[in-house]
Amino acid sequence: MYKAPRGTADILPQEQPYWRYVEQRAVELCQRYGYERIDVPAFEDAGLFDRSIGAETDIVEKETYTFEDKGGKKITLLPEGTASICRAYLEHGLHNQPQPVRLYYSISIFRYERPQSGRYRQHRQFGCEAIGDGDPSLDAEVIDMAWRLFRSLGLERFTLSLNSIGCKECRPTYLKVLKKYYAARAEGLCADCQSRLVRNPLRLLDCKQPSCQQVAAAAPRSADYLCKQCGEHFNQLQRYLDLMGIPFTANHCLVRGLDYYTRTVFEIQPETGGSQSTICGGGRYDDLIEELGGKPTPAIGFAVGMERIILNLKKQKLSVPALPRPQVFLAHIGREAKEEALKLASVLRQAGTGLVVAIADRSLKAQLRQANALGVRYTLIIGEEELKAGTVVLRDMIDARQETVSEADLPGLLAGPGGV
Ligand code: HAM
Repeated sequence: MYKAPRGTADILPQEQPYWRYVEQRAVELCQRYGYERIDVPAFEDAGLFDRSIGAETDIVEKETYTFEDKGGKKITLLPEGTASICRAYLEHGLHNQPQPVRLYYSISIFRYERPQSGRYRQHRQFGCEAIGDGDPSLDAEVIDMAWRLFRSLGLERFTLSLNSIGCKECRPTYLKVLKKYYAARAEGLCADCQSRLVRNPLRLLDCKQPSCQQVAAAAPRSADYLCKQCGEHFNQLQRYLDLMGIPFTANHCLVRGLDYYTRTVFEIQPETGGSQSTICGGGRYDDLIEELGGKPTPAIGFAVGMERIILNLKKQKLSVPALPRPQVFLAHIGREAKEEALKLASVLRQAGTGLVVAIADRSLKAQLRQANALGVRYTLIIGEEELKAGTVVLRDMIDARQETVSEADLPGLLAGPGGV
């Protein structure tokens, strides 16, 4: 027997109401803020991610699904969405449209991680990117969207962490200070941090080892080393968030796991739960478009993990609306009645009635049991007599009352309850 690959999950029909609910809410929200949908392929040239996420990040080093296709091309299944959206922005000349270009997407993401609760090798992200403006009000807009999404889903007890990691002007100075601080404490660091110290010092700050976290807690803060412009940008953003009533916590250890970020970085997490429970991550990436061959183009975005949102909906016991399903079942007795049933079903469905037809030639009792199991409101029954008279029996499944009605009247009678 085959099983779904480790770290992947089937989304069975009973799970679908959660998925449709979250995605519908997210789409409505994006549309309200003027964001338009974009879809990108599920794989890209592998080089795109080395250039954007960073060749020295955990994601690119350890987690991408990269392989040669049959034509010898090295491709990578999307390990995140932002790089692809930027590639599409450049490829299709979206810089010629009014800026910023506001986009949203819903995509499958592939990361070879160690699976555990809420952490998959294939997961789904819903994300937004606003490309082409550096104003802090755009940061505030994007953070506001992320925050309101959780609110509109009814999720509570979440915190928004915020930091600024500066730009290519001011970050080198900060990194020098940070490296010096860590170099003096190198012996007490975990093996990963020893290597980060040389290769990617910013990531020292979000090591999950308790002993390293202690070192990080007292480390120099990027916000104290920002250049004038980055400092003003960060102050202005915090002012806007205050004005908009969005509560946040400044977290100097928040640096994010992708190298393209500049200035603003943010995450949303449940109040209880570690970094693995982060449900939203985002930030500015003002140099990325240029890095990919475009003109300097500031941008900001975020993505939420759909599985983690749904996990939290369930944890908080929030109910979601059921999906529409047929309210009419069509039973038939005898070969000719079956043929009439198929014809009638087609007419009723075209008139907008959702309807399930009995398949096997079972007894009426068995067919009614099937109707009950489906939870329909009405069952239509065609037997020999009805066939002759051009009528059907309409049975109300709640009170078991039955009446005989003409076939011709059915579309009108069922227009309300039977419609899906
Ligand atoms: P990220 O933080 O790597 O950011 O992923 C976004 C969200 O996807 C996370 O906050 C988490 O909820 C979810 N997620 C990540 N990995 C997994 C996993 N293995 N299993 C389940 N859920 C997961 C990005 O990918 C950036 N592209 C976000 C962004 C957009 N930044 C700017 N624009």
